[in-house]
Amino acid sequence: MANNIVMEIARYSPEHQSEPTFESYEVPVHKEWVVLDALNHIKDTQDGTLTYRWSCRMGICGSCGMMVNGEPKLACATFLSSYAKNGTSRLRVEPLRYFPIVRDLVVEVGQFVGKLKKAKPWLIRQEEKPLSAGEYLQTPQQLDDYKQYSMCINCTLCYAACPVVGLDPGFIGPAALALAQRYNKDSRDQGSQERLAALAHPDGIWGCTFVGECTRVCPKHVDPAGAIQQYKLTAAFHYLKSLLMPRGQNIEEATYGSDLGSTGPGTGNTTAA
Ligand code: SF4
Ligand code: FES
Repeated sequence: MANNIVMEIARYSPEHQSEPTFESYEVPVHKEWVVLDALNHIKDTQDGTLTYRWSCRMGICGSCGMMVNGEPKLACATFLSSYAKNGTSRLRVEPLRYFPIVRDLVVEVGQFVGKLKKAKPWLIRQEEKPLSAGEYLQTPQQLDDYKQYSMCINCTLCYAACPVVGLDPGFIGPAALALAQRYNKDSRDQGSQERLAALAHPDGIWGCTFVGECTRVCPKHVDPAGAIQQYKLTAAFHYLKSLLMPRGQNIEEATYGSDLGSTGPGTGNTTAA
């Protein structure tokens, strides 16, 4: 294993540069060091102007995403030694692909947050119980139905891995669609029709071409690609059902089905494919 590794780090200051450049820094390779440790070492001992985001240092906050040798990674969960072991003596670190750069390795995530909101990531109820009736209880089995999708830490690695996001910045993207499924599959929620009305369009669930890179890079095993395929199946099923419905059927019911939750008609548009 190499004793030192050269980090080639993208530097960009939009006020002073028209495009990013790279600067090289040599750092020691300690067995327990992750890429974030190397960045902190550079900032502490070589260049205090290096700018990057991080907070928890334990794969929880989702803020330290960056490209490491061309792959979207969490800097706090990517060991330097795994590269040095393979004889790599240089490591290229860049900001996450497909996001506007604020400075050096820091990207702008405002548009991403807006996409999450489009998935209506909250429990939607058509009928509320009175407070006196107590909580909405859930069995462990019902929790299991959506738990995997609730593990997302909004690190945006799946957006940097998704070629559809690269081609169409309007595509709502993997994490937002997995988030919609997280609520659709929650036994306390009655909003699946409303979400489907908002997401069944070419920039929504139909934008995904099932490349699967989102699932491969996700550090929390959320499996956004699987969530999207499930969602597509549900939408296709209800579209086909609508073709078999008798004339005069309520158009929203025909498009989204009357058995998506116990909610009655949804509130959105009627686009299904
Ligand atoms: S789905 Fe995975 S990769 Fe995408 S934002 Fe959530 S945790 Fe990150
Ligand atoms: S610093 Fe929080 S996930 Fe890496």
